[in-house]
Amino acid sequence: MVIVTAVGVTVLVLIAAVRIQVPLWLGAVVASLLALGMVQFLARGMTSPLREIAHAAQAMGRGDYQPRVVASSRDEVGELARTFNKMATELAEVDRVRKDLIANVSHELRTPISALQAVLENLIDGVEPPDPRTLETMLEQVQRLGRLVTQLLDLSKLESGTLALERRPFELKPVIEQAAKESAVNAVHAGLKSVDLDVAIEPGDLRVRGDSERVHQVLANLLDNAVRHSPHGASVRVQAVVEDRRVRIEVDDSGPGIPEGETARVFERFYRSDEARSAADGGSGLGLAIARWIVDLHGGDIRAENRSPSGCRMVVHLPRA
Ligand SMILES: Nc1ncnc2c1ncn2[C@@H]1O[C@H](COP(=O)(O)OP(=O)(O)OP(=O)(O)O)[C@@H](O)[C@H]1O
Ligand SMILES: [Mg+2]
Repeated sequence: MVIVTAVGVTVLVLIAAVRIQVPLWLGAVVASLLALGMVQFLARGMTSPLREIAHAAQAMGRGDYQPRVVASSRDEVGELARTFNKMATELAEVDRVRKDLIANVSHELRTPISALQAVLENLIDGVEPPDPRTLETMLEQVQRLGRLVTQLLDLSKLESGTLALERRPFELKPVIEQAAKESAVNAVHAGLKSVDLDVAIEPGDLRVRGDSERVHQVLANLLDNAVRHSPHGASVRVQAVVEDRRVRIEVDDSGPGIPEGETARVFERFYRSDEARSAADGGSGLGLAIARWIVDLHGGDIRAENRSPSGCRMVVHLPRA
């Protein structure tokens, strides 16, 4: 467009120069100047989005993800501007998640540390005697810290892809039974309640292809959650069946279930639907985030559903051996 217009203007000016009998060299100079002016004007218009992108990129380099580029044209420059805006939005989101993570981690670490500090100060001041009960409270806080750090390390390894899965066929039944036994013991140990755990696997020798340690970790967390949210004396049911070339595992409880619209959010890091209660139970909201990573790495999927009239159902699909 620039070239056609510039050539057109040059020709018109030269024709006009001949018509009004101005010296040809003067016509040529005027035509050249006009053509150059037009090229400059149009080129500026074309490259202004590029300059805007450069400015926005510099702002991003300084950590400001707000500037966006006006992307009105439908050519390659417009396309570039739109891609740039998309990238800026994604980077802003990554930055937000990173900041949230730091805030959450600090908060979660501070809670048990403050509790420990308070008890230690009381011990030193002689307000509390160093009896087994006090020491037990301190041990609980240290265990909570240890668990949190282990979970964070697991999550970081899973996310960075440095955790290699040992994928091989294994029998599901012993893994589920082991996790169920541990959950029942944990619940009783924590003085929570006694909950019936009912395991049904069809066929009994069902085999999954994956890392048995990690699958155990997923089931242990699902069962822990189910037991933790169940009323006293209720039963938690684990079921595993074949579904096409996959294995479908369900963990059902009859607790309050997950609030409407939050079934996807429970898989986010540090997400707890009932902040106060879960925190009092010692949960950090990382269990399901880890579970989702593990299941994803196996090529499976995990989701939460609500049961009627009440209760929660966790459904996991894993590849069958
Ligand atoms: N079976 C369930 N019934 C009702 N709510 C549940 C159930 N399972 C999970 N949730 C909700 O999802 C949240 C996240 O669960 P997740 O396992 O990730 O964390 P947590 O159990 O609180 O802590 P952690 O597993 O790290 O010790 C829980 O805090 C709870 O609000
Ligand atoms: Mg949990």
